Amino acid sequence: MIDKTKTTILIVEDDPIIRKSEAVFLEGKGYTVILAKNGREGLEKFKQGQPDLVLLDLRMPEVDGLKVLDTITSGSPDIPVIIVSGVGTMDDAIKALKLGAWDFLTKPISNMAVLEHAIENVLERLKLIRENKSYQQHLEKEVEKRTIKLQLSEQQLRIALQGIIDVVATTVEVRDPYTAGHQQRVADLSIAIARQLNLSEEQTEGLRLAALIHDLGKVAIPSEILTKPGQLTDIEYQLIKTHAQVGYNILNKNKVDFPWPIKTIIYQHHEHLDGSGYPQGIAGDDILLEARILAVADVVEAMASPRPYRRALGVERALKEIQKYRSIHYDPAVVDACLRLFKENRFTFA
Ligand SMILES: [Fe+2]
Repeated sequence: MIDKTKTTILIVEDDPIIRKSEAVFLEGKGYTVILAKNGREGLEKFKQGQPDLVLLDLRMPEVDGLKVLDTITSGSPDIPVIIVSGVGTMDDAIKALKLGAWDFLTKPISNMAVLEHAIENVLERLKLIRENKSYQQHLEKEVEKRTIKLQLSEQQLRIALQGIIDVVATTVEVRDPYTAGHQQRVADLSIAIARQLNLSEEQTEGLRLAALIHDLGKVAIPSEILTKPGQLTDIEYQLIKTHAQVGYNILNKNKVDFPWPIKTIIYQHHEHLDGSGYPQGIAGDDILLEARILAVADVVEAMASPRPYRRALGVERALKEIQKYRSIHYDPAVVDACLRLFKENRFTFA
């Protein structure tokens, strides 16, 4: 139900008798009424009085009703205007409805109940529209709140994931101090190559995380072998080669479900394009692009850095190596991107 005492109606009407009779009737029904005797005054009182509804005559001196209507509906489309106009103005009626009038009554109003009914109808419609609007605003706010919450928890998850990745990376490096920083530098070069090859942000992120822990399987290899200063025996070398499979097994066994193919990238990072790599001996496109990138970044960084059994061979030697095995072990597009990075973009390891 509409609370009439809280509803203010502005009557804009130049005929004093009609104005008075409408006012008396509506005040008798409990409404608060503001009166204006022409269009100009109507606009002024509309601004001052902030009515909930307007009864508007069309034919008036000074500012005419259509002009008043246009001003009200374009500035305050939520305030309903009911036109109360003389007979024989069908054209005006159509114009008024087009301009946004909510209803149209013809003067003289012989039965005031018609006026009352029209007002109640419009106010009822207004109430529904307002309720709908506030419900919609409430919904929008709810959605916004939940979106922020989701974004926050996604951010927290990403931070936690990065923390776990760092822990795993450190664990590998504790076991194999010679490769300290190796995984980070391989990740840096992998990202740079990925950008050269226009990989998506998501793909690049998966590659970055995989690169940071790609030697995870080395935790299963005795430290003495990893840090052995001399030449490795064949058996020792075979043992080291198990790290790709072991890394994959660790992630697989624990059912770690990343939104990126991290397991597979790690599994395949020693595969060769011609199928001569390990552990599966797969070839060509069967090897994930991210793994083909990681393979190149891995060998370049490893050769550029010192190892327990040799001094650093340097970037130049490393680049010669990938050129030599371009299209044999290594993806030609990845090799070219890597060469471009060092030769044209002056890429250096941090
Ligand atoms: Fe490796």
